[in-house]
Amino acid sequence: MSAGLLYFEDERIPAMNLASAASLAEHRVARHRFPDEELCLRLPFGEDTNLPDPLVVYRSLAHPNEKLVELMLLARHARQCGVTRLILVAPYLAYMRQDIAFHSGELVSQRLVGGFLGELFDAVLTVDPHLHRIDRLEQAIPLKHALALSGAPQLAEMIAETRSDALLLGPDSESVQWVERAARVTGLDYGVCNKARHGDRQVDITLPAINVKGRRVVLMDDIASSGHTLARAAERVLTAGAVSVDVAVTHALFAGDALDVLRRAGVGEVWSTDCIVHHSNAVGMAPALADALAPLLLDSN
Ligand code: R5P
Repeated sequence: MSAGLLYFEDERIPAMNLASAASLAEHRVARHRFPDEELCLRLPFGEDTNLPDPLVVYRSLAHPNEKLVELMLLARHARQCGVTRLILVAPYLAYMRQDIAFHSGELVSQRLVGGFLGELFDAVLTVDPHLHRIDRLEQAIPLKHALALSGAPQLAEMIAETRSDALLLGPDSESVQWVERAARVTGLDYGVCNKARHGDRQVDITLPAINVKGRRVVLMDDIASSGHTLARAAERVLTAGAVSVDVAVTHALFAGDALDVLRRAGVGEVWSTDCIVHHSNAVGMAPALADALAPLLLDSN
């Protein structure tokens, strides 16, 4: 059988966009959760039909815990059915921020989850994984084909169209990689704040030595989770005289009341890529993902 893409109903739109951009036949995985929370997955192929090969699984890993079980079930089943080339497209890759033991005894989830995915798949394609203390994705996922794209150029182009004079600010040192890339694409001014984290929702932000008075600031980051990083940065720039502050992130996790936290801090627009399905999605990643996927579909090593 020829190549195909598996997707789940909650990601139908970005998955179909990718299937169309990559000229792949798409097949929906049906999912049932039993009363005891075990999962039953069902593929649209009869017993006598071969599975697509190469087989692409589209699963973005926000709310990752159950999805990691889905991936294990799908990948092991595909191997048992003889699939020779199995590719994971996970536009958001979870557990990448836990890259060291921050406290004695903590497990380093980045390596453990990365190793798990590396055992299941032949190639993994993602967008802006949170690589802070390592440079390359294959250091977390030990595969020859562990590829990371960035959503920053696409977000930057969208920002430049709507805020042509924007000052791009990253809220912490890790974000320099995204704001620098965005500034390179657009020629916009940029800077990077300093962050001290004291807890899940407790952060302090210090602005860089840049005059933000009268500027329209766009805060750029890879992830908004609780929203407190961006909220504290927004408060600082507004106090320092910025006329507006908007937010652009690759991964719209927005856990709990994160959007309210941003609004209360004075944030205007909130934009994201469609790596995680969310009503703030303003940029589609399908064309870039399809370009990166094309050689992976051909490579048999
Ligand atoms: C970490 O450095 C990331 O780049 C984000 O800044 C962080 O994960 C955001 O988390 P939160 O929204 O919970 O402050």
